[in-house]
Parts: sequence; C-alpha cells; structure tokens
Amino acid sequence: MPTTSSTTVLLSITFLLNACSTEKPDTKAPSDKSHPPSTAKSKPNPPLNLKPIKNSRQIMHQKLAHAQVILHAMATEDFDAMKSSAKQIVKLTNMAQWLVINHPDYLRYSEGFKRAASALVADAKTADVDGATLHYFQMTMNCVDCHMAVRKLHLSP
Ligand code: HEC
Repeated sequence: MPTTSSTTVLLSITFLLNACSTEKPDTKAPSDKSHPPSTAKSKPNPPLNLKPIKNSRQIMHQKLAHAQVILHAMATEDFDAMKSSAKQIVKLTNMAQWLVINHPDYLRYSEGFKRAASALVADAKTADVDGATLHYFQMTMNCVDCHMAVRKLHLSP
C-alpha cells in the first residue's frame, strides 16, 4: 500500500508541476486575459454538498473529496472553491472524531496537516497559486505520513 500512496503523491506532484510550467509563461503574456480558459471561469467547481459526519471514516472521505476539489481549483485558478474546501478541511480537523489516536506521531502529523490546510486558506485569499502548490504538497505528505504511522501502530488505514 505505501507504493500506491507514493505513486498517487508523485502523480499529483507531476500534475502540479506540469500545470505550473505550462501556466507560468502564459501569465506573463500581456494578451493572456483568456487564461485560464474561459470555461474554467464560467463553470466554477461546484460546492461539495456532503452529509453530516458520524465517524472518523466519514471525516477521511470528506477530506479526500475536498482535497480533490482543491487540486482541481489550483489547476483552474478557482480561488473561491479552493478557499471553501480548505476551510472545510480545517473544520474537519477540529472535530472530536478527528483525534482517533492519542500518539505523538499522530498528533504531529495532525498538526502539520492542519497547518498546511490553514495556509491553503490564506493562499486562496491572496490568489497565490505557488503557495497553494507548496501547501497542497505539504498537506498530502501529512496524509501519507500519518497513514504510514497508523499502519505501523497496527491500526486500520
Ligand atoms: C493525522 C493523521 C491523518 C491524516 C493527516 C490523514 N488521515 Fe486519513 N486516516 C487516518 C486514520 C486514523 C484513518 C482510519 C480511520 C478509521 O478507520 O476510523 C484514516 C483513513 C483514511 C481513509 C480510509 C477511510 C475508510 O473508508 O477506511 C481515507 C480515504 C483517508 N484516510 C484519506 C485521507 C486523505 C485524503 C488525507 C489528506 C488530505 C488524510 N486521510 C489525512 C489518519 C489520517
């Protein structure tokens, strides 16, 4: 399973780097008011309408959904969707059900995760794609590291 997680992270990073490298020259061009494509502007990412939380598993699934929205939002520069989903992630980490394991490693990754998600909210407010790319990466690292720590402690995924 660590292989799958690493591959996912690598794919995300590759995607992000590609997105950045193709967008950078464009944003410098004066005639580039049309980038990102107008379809991205006219069709913002729809807000997620998720069910109320009952357990930590549901928190995880909602977090995954919001993380995917953020990735989409970074690619389309939809800062409203980015802000909304990053805020929701911070909210989820503040729920009692989030703290499933009272172990120093778990708490460390939990704090790192929360810090990265809060930074993403700030990036969305300042329309900082580079900052968001870094903090999305940090957030994802904490997803994977925490899951590896949880597995090491012989708990479920
Ligand atoms: C601080 C630790 C921690 C972080 C950070 C974390 N998770 Fe989890 N994750 C867990 C634990 C613990 C479980 C097992 C929960 C359970 O079964 O009740 C879990 C389970 C999951 C599951 C499986 C749920 C199921 O149906 O069994 C998914 C999917 C998931 N996490 C996604 C993510 C994503 C995506 C991120 C990052 C955006 C993330 N997690 C960040 C601790 C963490």
